[in-house]
Amino acid sequence: MDIEKYLKEKAEVVEAALDRLLPSAKDYPQSLYGAMRHSIFAGGKRLRPILVMAACEAVGGDVEDAMNTASAFECVHTYSLIHDDLPAIDDDDLRRGKPTCHKAFGEASAILAGDALLTIAFEMIADTPHVDPKRLLRVSAELAKGSGHAGMIGGQVVDIESEGSEISFPVLEHIHIHKTGALIVAALKSGAIIGGADTVTTEKLTRYGEALGLAFQVADDILNVEGSSAELGKATGSDEERGKATYPSIVGLKESKEMAEALGAKALEALDALPSDMPSDMNDKIEPLRALVKFVIERNR
Ligand code: IPE
Ligand code: IPE
Ligand code: MG
Ligand code: MG
Repeated sequence: MDIEKYLKEKAEVVEAALDRLLPSAKDYPQSLYGAMRHSIFAGGKRLRPILVMAACEAVGGDVEDAMNTASAFECVHTYSLIHDDLPAIDDDDLRRGKPTCHKAFGEASAILAGDALLTIAFEMIADTPHVDPKRLLRVSAELAKGSGHAGMIGGQVVDIESEGSEISFPVLEHIHIHKTGALIVAALKSGAIIGGADTVTTEKLTRYGEALGLAFQVADDILNVEGSSAELGKATGSDEERGKATYPSIVGLKESKEMAEALGAKALEALDALPSDMPSDMNDKIEPLRALVKFVIERNR
C-alpha cells in the first residue's frame, strides 16, 4: 500500500477535526489560543491520532467515533513537545519547522499553552458524541496512564536526570519505553476500545504498539545523528551536545539500526498473531498498521 498517501489523507482528517475542536485564535485570550494553534498546526506527522484511527478501523469500528480521541492524543503529544522544548528541558528553538512555542510566544505562554492542550484533550474525549461512556472512561484512563507518571512523564524525568551521565541499557530502555512508547501504546489501545475490540485483540495490538513505540524512539535517536534538520523540522546533533542517553550513544549506530529492525519484526509478529476469528476483511484492515512499521523504521522525518 502507499503509506505516504495514507498518512497524508489521514492527517488531513485529523487536522480538520482539531480545527473544529480547538477554540478559535480570535477568541479571548488570543495569546493562549494563538500559542496552542501555533504548535498544533505547525505540522507534524500526526502519528498518534493516525494510530487511534487505524486501530479503530482494524477492529471493525467506525473511524468517526474515534476522531475526538484521535484529536485528544495529538493535543497531549503536542503539549509534550512544547514542554520538552522549554529551556528547562531540552532548550530547543525549532520544532515542526517553526520556532518553538516559547520562542514565538514566551516561556510563560508556552507552559500555559501546553497545560491547556493537556486538559482540553480530556474534554474532547468526554464530549465524544454517540460513543458508550464506558468506552470513553477507559480511553481517558489509557490517555492519562500513557502520558502521566507511569508513562511519558515517567520517561521524561529519567531522560533529564540521565543527561551527561553514563546509564545502563535497562535504564535507557525505561526512558524510551516510557517517554515515547507509552503514548503510542495508549493510542492503539484507545482506538481498539472505541472500535469495540475484545480483550485478546486489544492485547495483541498492545504488543504491536510496544514494539512500534520503542522502534519509533530508536529511529528518532538515529535521525538526531544522521537525519536532516530541514526534513525533520527540528535540530540534529543536539542529543550528543546535551549528553543525552540515546541508543546510538550507548549501543552504537549500527547496533541501533539492527535493534530498530528487530523491533519492527516483533511488531509485525504481533499483528500476525491477531486471532483468526476476526472478520474476514481483517487482513485489509490491518494493512496500514503493517505498512506503518516500515515507515517508522525507514522514515527521514
Ligand atoms: C517527536 O515525535 C517526539 C518523539 C516522541 C520522538 P514525532 O516525530 O511524532 O513528532 P511530530 O508530531 O511529527 O512533530
Ligand atoms: C521525545 O523526546 C518524547 C517527548 C517529547 C515526550 P525527545 O526530546 O527525544 O524528542 P525530540 O527529539 O525533541 O523530538
Ligand atoms: Mg526530550
Ligand atoms: Mg527534545
